[in-house]
Amino acid sequence: MTAKNWIVLLAIIVVASVIGIVFMLALSWFPEQGSNVAPEIDTFWDVLVIVSVPIFVAVTTVMLFSIWRWRQRPGEEDLDGPPIHGSTKLEVIWTIIPTIIIAALTTYAAILLVDIQAAPAKGTRVVNVNGVQFAWDFETQTADGPVKTAKLYLPINEPVKFNVRSKDVIHDFWVPAFRLKVDAVPGITTSYNLTPTKLGTFDVVCAELCGLGHAYMRQTVTVLTAERYATMMAKLTKASGTPVAAAGGDGIGEQLFVAGNPATGATACGACHTLAAAGTTGVTGPNLDKELKADNASAADIMEMIVDPNKEIAKGYSKGIMPANYATTMTKAELDALTKYIYESVQGKG
Ligand code: CUA
Repeated sequence: MTAKNWIVLLAIIVVASVIGIVFMLALSWFPEQGSNVAPEIDTFWDVLVIVSVPIFVAVTTVMLFSIWRWRQRPGEEDLDGPPIHGSTKLEVIWTIIPTIIIAALTTYAAILLVDIQAAPAKGTRVVNVNGVQFAWDFETQTADGPVKTAKLYLPINEPVKFNVRSKDVIHDFWVPAFRLKVDAVPGITTSYNLTPTKLGTFDVVCAELCGLGHAYMRQTVTVLTAERYATMMAKLTKASGTPVAAAGGDGIGEQLFVAGNPATGATACGACHTLAAAGTTGVTGPNLDKELKADNASAADIMEMIVDPNKEIAKGYSKGIMPANYATTMTKAELDALTKYIYESVQGKG
């Protein structure tokens, strides 16, 4: 290794690192910042990028340089390499430096986590988040008691604490715009708290592989002004009987379709089935708009498909995927309302 080689190597590493960092920081990796913790978490990401890009560049550059510099030349096929015993000095250096870097980043992360998850102030609004294959439901504590909803509503600039639970397997409650997420683990309650800082509607995602419908275990959270939130909660309180209240629909059939009934364990049809009228896009099960129309299914047919789903299976789908317990998890009235809703959505009107 000549001095010139060293200088060239170093220059490549510095220039490539600068380009890499600028490129990585210029890219927009995340959705908009929807909560008070988002800016701090995004800053943490930037720090990780600034630290790790030069390491990646240095390792790659040295590797490529070595491959080029000490490649086998013609006539060297039968030569052995020089006998190298190892270097204690090198080994100490390449152990200590990464240890320092990891320790520093871990300390930063730990301080950040403690900082953004400080115990919420007394009186902070609590929202119970329940995960079930394959849907979320939410129970918001209000002055008038708990309000169950399929979609999540939050007032802007007011701290909220999520208590996250699961009824079956491990899910993970994640609102990418809020940045935080936590596993929903059967048998225990996990939680985090934050303050929504941006008006609008954001995705709620399940971030833990939880079964066939995992990718469709999605919902929305809408952040409203304090006044609009109060109006919405009043409306939902009125609508919230035993079946959970679905946003935008006042019929029990639509509520059941979109949200199921967490109180009885009836899961939401819309988590797995597409139905244009309900705005659901699930693909675990057949597309109801298409299949029911093609079958020219009567209300009685639809009822049978709900309570005895394994009797006849649509082409391309398997037995045993759709829960077969709707006859027990729903009352007769609920089944009638649901059937009527689906029938009218597909066949009835137009
Ligand atoms: Cu629930 Cu993935």
